[in-house]
Amino acid sequence: IGKMIHYQETVESTQKIAHQLANEGVQEGTLVVAEEQLSGKGRLMRSWHSPKFSGIWMSLILRPKIPIHEAPQLTLLAAVAVAQAIEDTTDLKPQIKWPNDILVNRKKVVGILTEMQAESDRIHSVIIGIGMNINQQLEDFPEELQEKASSLLIESGGTVSRSKVIQRALFRLENLYELYLDQGFMPIKDLWESYAISLGQVIKASTVNDTIVGKALGITDSGVLLLEDGKGTVHSIYSADIEIQ
Ligand code: BTN
Repeated sequence: IGKMIHYQETVESTQKIAHQLANEGVQEGTLVVAEEQLSGKGRLMRSWHSPKFSGIWMSLILRPKIPIHEAPQLTLLAAVAVAQAIEDTTDLKPQIKWPNDILVNRKKVVGILTEMQAESDRIHSVIIGIGMNINQQLEDFPEELQEKASSLLIESGGTVSRSKVIQRALFRLENLYELYLDQGFMPIKDLWESYAISLGQVIKASTVNDTIVGKALGITDSGVLLLEDGKGTVHSIYSADIEIQ
């Protein structure tokens, strides 16, 4: 992972470039990194604030030979790798909010966006976009984000080396990806659960059509979140916005 790196100072979105490169057939493990994104993309059609030199904005191209419904497992894998990289480079204690927000002291420092290209039933490529807030000060965030978002600098009280964090993130991604190809999702699931913030708690999941409040029971073997509502019905959540109650 990261043997081929496509670096550009300013891009619209590293996700977009990664999609193009994937279509051109670049090798698995190719990484796209930029210093700044002019229209960074977040989950659920949101934008992602990606100011120059203060974060890590990168997209990784993988080509696993797995069925389409298992692709979300890779998102959870990426979240674990990034949490490990934060532990490797700071004294902070990262936690993961399903599916893949990384929080430090309950504030979001990392977002992950996984997109897939598939032909009929075969995965052509999985593009994992990782946005890490590293050295922003609080006032660098748009006002509406200041309550919920943070950076490693704000939480640790000192500048954090972006190159060290990238190095550790790639190292951890490669290790976990090899473990995954070798032993499947189970060891990754265990690791993910050890970082999970909301398991066993009551959370609110807002999906496109619905809001469900219930206890987060855990994740399934394909990475789907299970929520038990007040009546004891268990819901499978594939994609939602989660609020911890
Ligand atoms: C989220 O909404 O939490 C996901 C944010 C993902 C942001 C990263 S930054 C690198 C890559 N390029 C993008 O345009 N988005 C992802």
